[in-house]
Amino acid sequence: MKIAMVASEANPLCKTGGLADVVYSLSKELVILGEEVSVILPFYKKIKDRSGLKLKRLGNYDVYLSWRKQAANIFLCYLDGITFYLIGNDYYFGREELYGYEDDGERFAFFTLAARSLFQFLDLRVDVIHIHDWQVGMLPTLVREQSMDLPVFSGTKFVMTLHNEAFKGLIDRYFLNHFYGLDDILFDDGRVRFDGMVSTLKAGIIYSDEVVAVSPNHARELLTPGDPMRLDGVLALKEGHFQGILNGIDLLEFNPSEDPLIEKNYDVHSFEEGKKACKERLLSTSLLPISDDPVFGLVSRLTSQKGVDLVIQVARGIIDRGGKMTILGSGEYELEQAFEALRAEFPNNVAIYRGYNNQLAHDIYAGSDFFLMPSLFEPCGIGQMLAQHYGTLPICRRVGGLADTVIPYGEGRDDATGFLFDDYSGSAFWAEIEAAFAVYRNQRIMNSLVRNAMNVDYSWKTSAEAYLALYKRS
Ligand code: GLC
Repeated sequence: MKIAMVASEANPLCKTGGLADVVYSLSKELVILGEEVSVILPFYKKIKDRSGLKLKRLGNYDVYLSWRKQAANIFLCYLDGITFYLIGNDYYFGREELYGYEDDGERFAFFTLAARSLFQFLDLRVDVIHIHDWQVGMLPTLVREQSMDLPVFSGTKFVMTLHNEAFKGLIDRYFLNHFYGLDDILFDDGRVRFDGMVSTLKAGIIYSDEVVAVSPNHARELLTPGDPMRLDGVLALKEGHFQGILNGIDLLEFNPSEDPLIEKNYDVHSFEEGKKACKERLLSTSLLPISDDPVFGLVSRLTSQKGVDLVIQVARGIIDRGGKMTILGSGEYELEQAFEALRAEFPNNVAIYRGYNNQLAHDIYAGSDFFLMPSLFEPCGIGQMLAQHYGTLPICRRVGGLADTVIPYGEGRDDATGFLFDDYSGSAFWAEIEAAFAVYRNQRIMNSLVRNAMNVDYSWKTSAEAYLALYKRS
């Protein structure tokens, strides 16, 4: 089967979040299952600046955003059996960052229009076009409304995965025609309308054949009337064509028994020794004194989605009990400053690295005892699965994919892998942290939880097979 992924980021070329992990890992796994996969991405400056990429130039064509003519320069490279097509345009993508610009709506309109033309330009015929998130949400609308008679799209099926529905891709109604050349009727009859604007995310949902949320529990949440994402009405229309498929984790990069980045490799039989060595390295690189006290790790964007304000609320409690915190991430200024202030006050208990550091991320997954992830909402979440795989017990809010992937301690199950709380409040979170301290003091219970966590299978195989079944469904 031939599958083309169209997305705004993908490992190993460009990443800001879990979306990049998913596009890459899913593609790799589909290749292993024998499918032919290509990934279409913007040719960002960040990719251009990489050394050692073997790129082949395939040519160029013009893309029109109403009267604006912009060139699309097409490059190709092969990585891990996947064909990557890169759409270059220095005006839109020759910038330092992937997103965060005032004209993002226009930049991704260009990318979406150029992606449609790419199929024609290369006569690239695929069975499935799999789109991800708002940036490319308008692609099925463009094809279905304007290009259905092109042979290259005959029989093509559209699948859309929603990674973060908080981002609706809102643009002024005027741009529906101005960027995309689409008729006002699509706005007037409500198909692509959301809050009086055009939503490229909603357009993707409406026009795709199959829509996927990244965990079964989150799919149920999204369908619940009153859900804060406010997509329940739209998704109800997809009855029978909307489901949750849990993401996996990349076991080639994240595997404690082979990970070259961690201090000592270990598996489910040797974790006591292995994790001890990893913890010592984590503490020393974080400039914290070596001790036997529990370490609470956090690797996350520091934003309100991730519940970071709750972490700040419980921090003093953790410190009072001798716990240590190692934090890796960047994001909202106030949250970063709150952690900086804690570090200044408690330099022996709190370490923060602002930004992203792959080495430190691996050290935190391997060397911490507990992993904090009290998200406000979490479509799937990857950190909690990685942590468990490294025998680090997650303490999470029972929301989205976290509820699907953490088996809670203290609720009568003997296969518990972590801790879950319900209310979005510091006190509910704190109750589970106290439970974690108690477990930590009981070596036998602690070890059995670590063993349970390490034994869970979060490989991509199951998820890739579920996607494949969906692609094949007629
Ligand atoms: C987004 C979501 C996260 C999910 C990831 C990959 O970043 O916030 O929960 O794991 O996408 O699907």
